[in-house]
Amino acid sequence: AHFLLLNGPNLNLLGSREPGVYGHDTLPAIEQRLAARAAEHGHTLSCFQSNSEGTLIDRLHAARDEDVACVLFNPAAFTHTSVALRDALLASELACIEIHLSNTAKREAFRHHSYFADIAIGTITGFGAQGYVMALDAAIARAAEPTR
Ligand code: DQA
Repeated sequence: AHFLLLNGPNLNLLGSREPGVYGHDTLPAIEQRLAARAAEHGHTLSCFQSNSEGTLIDRLHAARDEDVACVLFNPAAFTHTSVALRDALLASELACIEIHLSNTAKREAFRHHSYFADIAIGTITGFGAQGYVMALDAAIARAAEPTR
């Protein structure tokens, strides 16, 4: 199956951005780890990051024609603000697993609401970069199910 890893604003700074909150792994390191793990299981992974809401929306539109089995999505701050990205995900009709490095539930109140939680298969939050691996493994398991 083919998966799409989508990361939102400021995640290009992973590794140097608030490492106490987000850890020391860089985004390229996470992307390479995930692509290798997908390949080990006979799957493919595309990776995309943007700081721009419209560019992320355009990427989801393009994904409609790419036979994506599951979007692994960390919308970052857009999690808490973007009806437009939510609508783009709904329009794509693609399955999605929401990921957050930090445990947003124990942070500021404005991070407690997600525009994606109720339309995602599920959310992985608080496990740092390992959360991306967990999300990929969940997507792989789901892709193997006959009745998804
Ligand atoms: C984040 C959590 C968001 O609240 C924050 O705006 C981010 C990263 C996370 O991965 O923990 O940029 O999505």
